[in-house]
Amino acid sequence: MRPSLHPISADVTTHKPARRLHIQTWGCQMNVYDSARMADALAPLGYTPHPTPEGADLVILNTCHIREKATEKVFAELGRLKRLKDARAKAGERMLIAVAGCVAQAEGAELLRRAPFVDIVLGPQTTHRLPTLVARAEAGERALLDTEFPPEDKFDHLPEEAAPQGFTAFLTVQEGCDRFCSFCVVPYTRGAEFSRPVAAVLAEARRLVAQGAREITLLGQNVNAYHGEAPDGSEWGLARLIRELADRIPGLARLRYTTSHPVDMDEALITAHRDVPILMPFLHLPVQSGSDRVLKAMNRRHTREDYLRLVDRLRAARPDLALSSDFIVGHPGETEEDFAATLDLVQRVGFASAFSFKYSPRPGTPAADRPDQVDEATKERRLAELQALLRDQQARFNASFLGRTIEVLFLEPGRHPGQLVGRSPWLQPVHAQAPATLAGDLRPVTITAIHPNSLAGRLAEPALDAA
Ligand code: 5AD
Ligand code: SF4
Repeated sequence: MRPSLHPISADVTTHKPARRLHIQTWGCQMNVYDSARMADALAPLGYTPHPTPEGADLVILNTCHIREKATEKVFAELGRLKRLKDARAKAGERMLIAVAGCVAQAEGAELLRRAPFVDIVLGPQTTHRLPTLVARAEAGERALLDTEFPPEDKFDHLPEEAAPQGFTAFLTVQEGCDRFCSFCVVPYTRGAEFSRPVAAVLAEARRLVAQGAREITLLGQNVNAYHGEAPDGSEWGLARLIRELADRIPGLARLRYTTSHPVDMDEALITAHRDVPILMPFLHLPVQSGSDRVLKAMNRRHTREDYLRLVDRLRAARPDLALSSDFIVGHPGETEEDFAATLDLVQRVGFASAFSFKYSPRPGTPAADRPDQVDEATKERRLAELQALLRDQQARFNASFLGRTIEVLFLEPGRHPGQLVGRSPWLQPVHAQAPATLAGDLRPVTITAIHPNSLAGRLAEPALDAA
């Protein structure tokens, strides 16, 4: 669970009464982005962020359905919120509850049946309709449900006036997925693949940079399937979009994109890693399994050799490129031999970091109906073994930075006085003694110590504007 609150401007220009909004976000970066946009969209109604559900006038749970127990966690949280809502009602006050995101999409009316005290249920494709739904709920309507896949583009209906995200920002360029991996709910909850037009992406990137962003991560469930409409009416892939952003947005110092499918990694994108210096040398490229049999069963449409060859081509284009991946252990039908092939692939590639999960049957997906499910104990054991190997690789990757000087984007004060925390090109947090004025700047830092989840270093040259 990753509760988060997105600060928005307190300078609300309407005369709506002040209301307190608490958003709790689970799951992927796309949800983090959507939560921020929901907060932006509600600002004109007078909603400002509030750090806890206690005392909030509107609580939004922005939910994730990708793996096990997500739904149950949402219902557990709703139970807690119901007690708060009842207490507020006794005090003569009202608290509205909205459930958004992929659990809302998947459960729909069932959610209102099980939790009738919920005021609003809305799916990920209708976040732009939230202000209308909230206004209706404020006016006394109950059990509002909107889980359509509407024909209009939600991005055209979300406000441009966004709260600043800071020195690092997310920008959704693509949503949905047409790949239908056997285990995955995304094609059902987020719907068909959709790319935002190039002009909309450029305009949003300009706004983010004007608000202070130095690093932008382009987001999409299958981001390298991006095929947005260009101003001249042609279609651009992700590589062309990245080149345009790099060329046309002065002040933008770093670009990333996530999450990619190996099959959609085309030559143009590989070449962009060679040619575009602001494209960071870190790529999240999920392989899921190292066994051809399992990859086939997963409907991934590539082999382990395809993946290994792709990694070689990427490293040839950008020798300092580091890779991360997602893995699933215990997909239906996975044997010991299949699992050994996954370990072998990990050994061959060498990952800088990775996420790994036990397979979790998602109702409605093809793999969930297979009779050859793997038992829980086997999944546990395989996951522990895989994670030990991945942890070891991550530790070795981090240790390789000792004594090296790398460029750090400084972001915010660290835990100790006089310290700033920043981010390396490879997404590692880096601590260094540095004046607060360096926040938002890129500086060379010499790494002097390796910690389990971060690096520590010192500024490699005297900071010119140091106090
Ligand atoms: N069970 C386990 N892991 C899953 N993922 C997606 N669906 C499932 C599932 N049913 C993982 C995949 C994906 C990541 C976002 O979540 O590894 O890349
Ligand atoms: Fe899910 Fe990713 Fe496969 Fe699409 S490509 S179905 S989002 S795992």
